[in-house]
Amino acid sequence: MPNRDSAPTKPLHASRPVAATSTKGALLEETPAIQANNVSAWFGDHKVLDRVSLVMPKGKVTALIGPSGCGKSTFLRTLNRMHELVPGAQFSGEVLLDGHDIYEPSRRITDARRNIGMVFQKPNPFPAMSIEDNVLSGLALTGQRVDKSTKEAIVEECLTKAGLWKEVKDRLEQPGGGLSGGQQQRMCIARSLAVKPRVLLMDEPCSALDPTSTRRIEETIVELASEVTIVIVTHNMQQAARVSDKTAFFLAEQGTPGGIVEYGPTNQMFEFPKDERTLAYVNGRFG
Ligand SMILES: Nc1ncnc2c1ncn2[C@@H]1O[C@H](COP(=O)(O)OP(=O)(O)O)[C@@H](O)[C@H]1O
Ligand SMILES: [Mg+2]
Repeated sequence: MPNRDSAPTKPLHASRPVAATSTKGALLEETPAIQANNVSAWFGDHKVLDRVSLVMPKGKVTALIGPSGCGKSTFLRTLNRMHELVPGAQFSGEVLLDGHDIYEPSRRITDARRNIGMVFQKPNPFPAMSIEDNVLSGLALTGQRVDKSTKEAIVEECLTKAGLWKEVKDRLEQPGGGLSGGQQQRMCIARSLAVKPRVLLMDEPCSALDPTSTRRIEETIVELASEVTIVIVTHNMQQAARVSDKTAFFLAEQGTPGGIVEYGPTNQMFEFPKDERTLAYVNGRFG
C-alpha cells in the first residue's frame, strides 16, 4: 500500500476563498464548494494522480479537460469516494466539501455520495422501472421516507430542472428504457438532483449523445449551476467553453502520474493560456 505523501507541498490553488474576476468582469469572493488538496491516487502500484489541488467554486461550473488517460475520471471519482470501490485502488489527500474533509474517518461514505452526485458517460437508468420511479430511486437508497404528494412534487421539480418535464409529464408510468439516449441522460440528471446534492460530478455526460441532445444537456447544466456546483469532464473544447466558468487542464506526461498544468477562468484558458502545453491542447494539436 502506498504511503500517504509525507511532506505535502503547498496546494497550487489557495485554500482560502480567492478573489477572482467573474465572466461579467466584477470582482467577487469565490467560496469553494468542493476543494481537493494534494489528491494522489493509485491503482495497485500504478500512481495515476500526483498531489492534485483544485478549488471548485460554489455555484459555478468547473470543466476538467486533458488527453485521454491523464486521470480526469479518476480525479472525479476521488471527489465522492467512488475511487475506493475499485479493488486495489488507493488514495491520499483531502477533499473538503464546504470545508469538511469527506475522507475523515468519522464521515460516512453514503453522506459523501448523497451530497456529491454523479452522472456518467452513458446514461444508466433502470430501464424497466418507470420514469417517476427512476427519478425517485436515489431517495430509496439513501433511506429517506416521503409521502405520495411529496414524491410527485419531487418528480416534477427534478424533471423540470433537468429540462425533461414537458416531454414526459404525460407518461411518467412508462419505462425509463423507452426514452431516447438524451432523454435518459436528463432523467439520470433528475435522479441525481432528487437527493438534493450540493455538488454534481459529470463525466463526459454528452459523449454518447447526438448534437441536439448535447445542446439540451448543456442548457440544463447552465441552468442548474446557480444551485448546484458542477464539475464536468469533457473532451469537447467548445462544450467546455460554452458551459464552464473555470477550467483545469490535466496532463500525464510520459510515464508520470497526472496533474493539473494550468487552471483559470475558462475564457482565459482558451484565449490566453499561460502554459504552452495548454495552448497546444486547446488548439487541438494533441490529445
Ligand atoms: N479501474 C482501473 N484499474 C486500473 N487502472 C485504471 C482503472 N481506471 C483507470 N485506470 C488507469 O488510470 C489512468 C487514468 O485513467 P482515467 O482516470 O480513466 O483517465 P481519463 O479519464 O483522463 O481518460 C490511466 O492510466 C488508466 O489506464
Ligand atoms: Mg475518463
